Formats: sequence, C-alpha cells, structure tokens
Amino acid sequence: MAESGATLSNLSTESRTFPPSEEFAAQANATADWYARADRDRAAFWAEQAERLSWAQRWDEVLEWNAPFAKWFVGGRLNVAYNCVDRHVESGHGEQVAFYWEGEPGDTRVITYAQLQREVCKTANALVELGVKTGDRVAIQLPMIPEAVVAMLACARLGAPHSVVFGGFSPSALRSRIEDAQAKLLITSDGQFRRGKPGPMKENTDQAVADTPTIEHVLVVKRTEAEVPWTEGRDIWWHDVVDRQPDTHQFEAFDSEHPLYVLYTSGTTGKPKGILHTTGGYLTQCAYTHHVVFDHKPGQSVYWCTADIGWVTGHSYIVYGPLANRATSLMYEGTPNTPHEGRHWELIQKYGVTIYYTAPTLIRTFMKWGAEIPAKYDLSSLKVLGSVGEPINPEAWMWYREHVGHNNCPVVDTWWQTETGAIMISPLPGVTAAKPGSATRPLPGISAEVVNDSGEPVGRGHGGYLVLNEPWPAMLRGIWGDEERYRETYWARFAEQGDYFAGDGAKIDEDGAIWVLGRVDDVMNVSGHRISTTEVESALVSHPTVAEAAVVGASDVTTGQGIVAFVIMRGDAIADEATGAESIKMLRDHVAAEIGPIAKPRQIMVVEELPKTRSGKIMRRLLRDIAENREIGDVTTLADSSVMDQIATGLREGK
Ligand code: WT7
Repeated sequence: MAESGATLSNLSTESRTFPPSEEFAAQANATADWYARADRDRAAFWAEQAERLSWAQRWDEVLEWNAPFAKWFVGGRLNVAYNCVDRHVESGHGEQVAFYWEGEPGDTRVITYAQLQREVCKTANALVELGVKTGDRVAIQLPMIPEAVVAMLACARLGAPHSVVFGGFSPSALRSRIEDAQAKLLITSDGQFRRGKPGPMKENTDQAVADTPTIEHVLVVKRTEAEVPWTEGRDIWWHDVVDRQPDTHQFEAFDSEHPLYVLYTSGTTGKPKGILHTTGGYLTQCAYTHHVVFDHKPGQSVYWCTADIGWVTGHSYIVYGPLANRATSLMYEGTPNTPHEGRHWELIQKYGVTIYYTAPTLIRTFMKWGAEIPAKYDLSSLKVLGSVGEPINPEAWMWYREHVGHNNCPVVDTWWQTETGAIMISPLPGVTAAKPGSATRPLPGISAEVVNDSGEPVGRGHGGYLVLNEPWPAMLRGIWGDEERYRETYWARFAEQGDYFAGDGAKIDEDGAIWVLGRVDDVMNVSGHRISTTEVESALVSHPTVAEAAVVGASDVTTGQGIVAFVIMRGDAIADEATGAESIKMLRDHVAAEIGPIAKPRQIMVVEELPKTRSGKIMRRLLRDIAENREIGDVTTLADSSVMDQIATGLREGK
C-alpha cells in the first residue's frame, strides 16, 4: 500500500486529544446525539437536513438506490441560485454582506446579497441572450474575482451545468475539458493578477478554443485591462452584455437530480474524469456540513475558505454551502505572500474572520515562514480552523492550533473528495475530541469503514482501505459520458460488499478514529491537488526527446508529495547531449505547458532503464525508494534485477 512517507510513522505514535471547551460546546450548532439520531433513521435525518433548503416542490422519496446509482429527494424541485441568493433577500437580509472581496493589488469590493441577486439575474439574462439553454454546458476559467461566483450562480439559475477549470491549467487541459463536456460558452477574463503582476488569461483560452467547434461565444471579464487578441463575433466583453440586462430574472425550479456541474479531476489514467454533481442532495449536504463542521452562524460568522474556485473546495465551500447558509465570506484573489508573508493574518484581522479553512500545504509553508509572522496580528476573532486536501501531519496541526488558533479554536480536519461533493469525515467542533492528524469519524448521516483486501472491516488498531458503505446525498452521480468508468473506478474493487472505493489508505485506531494516510492508487497529491502519475508520464513522452517515462509522488515536507520523474531519453537525443540541465528544464516546462504549472516535476532523473516486472509493469515502489533516498526494497519480482543497481549507479555518477 502506498504511504505518505513521514505522515504514517508520525501518526502511529500520536496520542494527544483535544476535547472542545465547555463554552464552545454550549453554543455549538450540532450536539452529540446527532450521531445516534442519524443512525436510527438515516432517511429521516437527511430529510431533516434537506429542510435547510427552500423547495418549490417537496420530494416524494428521500433516496432511490439502484446501486451504484442514487437519486436523492426524488420528485423534489428547487433552484440552487434562488436558495443561495434570492431567498435571503426575501427574508430581509438583502443588506447583509455576502462577500468581502480583496484583489491582489489591494483593490476591494463589498457585495451584499441584494447586489449579488442583481448581478446573478443580469448574468443569467446575458447567458440567455447568448443562447444558453437549460442543460447546455458552460466552461468557466476565471481568476478569483466575484464574477466567478456570479457566473456559476447564473448557470445554476438556468440549469446549465458549469464546468469550472482552474486558472492554472494549460490551454490543452482546458481544451480537452471543453471537448469532453461539449461546452457551448466559455467565460474567461483578459488576464489575472499573480504575485503582484498582471498575467495572461485570454491568450491561453484563445489557444484552447482555436479548435473547439462547440464553443459559440467567449464571454470576457475585464480584470487587468491588458490588451488582448479579439475574435469579432465570437468574443464579447462581460460589461458590454451583462451591464445592460434587466436585474430581475424569473427562475425555474429544476428536478432534484438535474445536473448542477461537472468538475474534472485526475484519475489513474491520463484522461481526467468529469465528475457529475446534481442539485438537491448536493446542496443539502453542502449546507448541512458547512453548518455543523464550521459551526457557522449566519449574520455573525465571517467565513474564509482559501481554496480556488477551480477546485471542488471552492465549489462546495466558497459558493454553494456558505451561500445556502447565508454566510458572510471573505474572498481573496491572490497568493499568500503578496505583497508580504503576513497577508492572510492581515486579512483575518481586517475583516474579523471567525472561520478559516485552508490546506495543510499552506500551513506547512506558514510554519516555514515563521510563527513570528502571525504573532504580529490580532487573530482573536477566530473561532474554528479547518483543514482539507491531504493528510495533515501532527506537527502542522499543532502549529495551526497554537500559532493561529492560540489554543482556543477547535481544529477540524475534513476528509472528502471531488467525488463525495461535500465533507464526509470530520470532527464536530463542539462535540468531538480532536486528535492531531486524524479526521476522526464520519459525520452524522455518513458511514465509512476501513477494510482489508477482501473488503472485510479490519477492526480497531488496524489499517486498510477507506470505503463508504452507504450512499450519501452529495455523492457523484457518475463520470460525464462514461458510465463504465464510473462503475470500474469506484464500485468494482469491493463490488461484493457494494462499497464505494475512495482510493485512500486509512487506519482505524483503538477509539474508532480514522486516520487517512493518502492515496493507494497512481494518484499523487501535490499541495492538495490531485495529479495522476500517468497524466504526467504521457506529457513527458509526448516530448520528442523522451522515449519512456515513469513518475512517482515522493514525500515532500511542504507540498505533501512532490513529482519525481524518471525518463529514458531517445538515442538521438542522448547523442545530442540532451541529458543536461537545459533539457531537463525544457522537459519541466513542457509538462507545465501540457498540463499546467502545478504538474511540473520537482525533479527529473535521466536513466537508461526502468524497473519492470516480467509482465512489463513499472515498479513505482522501487522508484519511490530512490526518490525518497531510501534503501531499495524487494527486487525479486523484477524482470531484470540488476536494473536498480544500474539506476542507482548511474544517478550517483551523474549520468
Ligand atoms: C483526495 C481528494 C476534498 C477537497 C480537496 C481535495 C485527499 C482530502 C483529506 C484529509 C487526508 C485528504 C485524499 C482524497 N484528502 N482531504 N482531510 N486527510 N487526505 O479533493 O482533489 O478530489 O482529492 O485528497 O487522498 O482522496 P480531491
């Protein structure tokens, strides 16, 4: 089983527990009895959670489970945008701030629910004018600006599934996502601010849509004011078409199972999977989890999730969950060290942030920058701290609790995935005694197990595979256009038990707490981003100098895992002295261009052979030993057992 290096050894000796304070527990949104209540009648529990939303038509049945296909709140009808925006205005909260927005250069915007309602309506009207109809797919590649949220909500309002693509993805990654979803419209911007400088966006999206016949229009938000190439007839400025629209729009209520969005994530093959989420169940679980896990209090809390809108965390915990719960959120455009390393703390102080939700990789970066930086700011407004995206090592957890939370805030380590749609395993901040490094136990209404190779629960004190053994409302409804891959990826491994295979290894301790250890498949987790080894390998071999490539995720103190590539160069390339530093730089840049900068290998090693089994499968385990500077493990199943010696010697001699 793949292990996330240092994490596992640290976790096995971790025994500290941190119960909530009496004061916190007394005011918490969820109480201990919720677990038993949900266990007694799961359907009734979820029906109760669905009451958080406003339904145009109530459901007839909570769940229709035709394994592995779920329908939640069958027969119910609702509109997601109405639930996230209009109903709060109708209930008299139009003047409440929905978003405090901070641009990287220091420009700011404050958007109330009433303003958000007008913007969403205008944008929905503009999309209709551009020919978008219910069911059409809309691709969105935007920086972290309010228009990103508005665009998503406008799509939701029309029942036109969005497909948001992270701003750091390359033109070819955007193109393949547009092609797979057959998107009709692309929403993008002229540029984006990154590390204090305006950078390109439109040039890249232009490359992506150069040959995507389904795209009829490109709607362009002005952000950096950069001069951009323009295709008359196809390209339209956001302000030209949105600003002149009426600011009301009569929405339609959609079926509870109407598609809300497609979001692409890496799987174990080179082709990303379009994860499909639908309406009623998804919004129910987003709202419920945001309420109980962050102890969110509408009108009082100031909530900040630092994710990018291009990932599922941005979808569920910047847009849908918080807005359904009438949150006041902070949204920040830039990087955490622009213009200085105290930017996040400065923002928490400025806005009185009470709930802060971020990723372990960033916490480790803050640790590296030093505790004296947060110490300079007033962080006393903070009440709950969240973590997501990868296993959090106990040291980072403790640092977070101490230097950000001043030992006064519950830390909630939340395990979930793009596929699960919303948080699944997490402490309840007013109930659970937290353990540094453990996501603890499934939330009320959720069921998970740790099982062995044959799918049997391993029992306390043991490790195995993490599975989900009951359907949940926000679960993916499939992979866009590929039912077979959906069955194969998630439901084939433990078909007999009917369990969902999450792809993670986990341990269950003597108290029944779950410790998620990391992926057990060929998926890497770099700074909380999922990247498949095969995806990077195919990018490498698409370069003319590369004959063969093998990629592994090696543990990395800051990013969790780092990408390490082993490549065999083509004969003529070697003769060309193409194995030098320059060609390695060229290959790293090539991967960035093919996939995006997040997929750039940390290290590329040029080798003459790769370790393979007799059946030709690359033994990544052995390459990981090299990448992590460990003694090389068992080589007896190699077709040629001398290969590892050759690789090790070659690398020592710098060949
Ligand atoms: C994978 C899912 C969920 C939003 C961000 C990532 C890892 C996620 C945790 C956690 C240990 C975690 C898992 C999972 N992961 N949260 N709290 N502890 N591991 O979404 O890109 O779909 O990745 O991230 O390996 O399978 P994603």
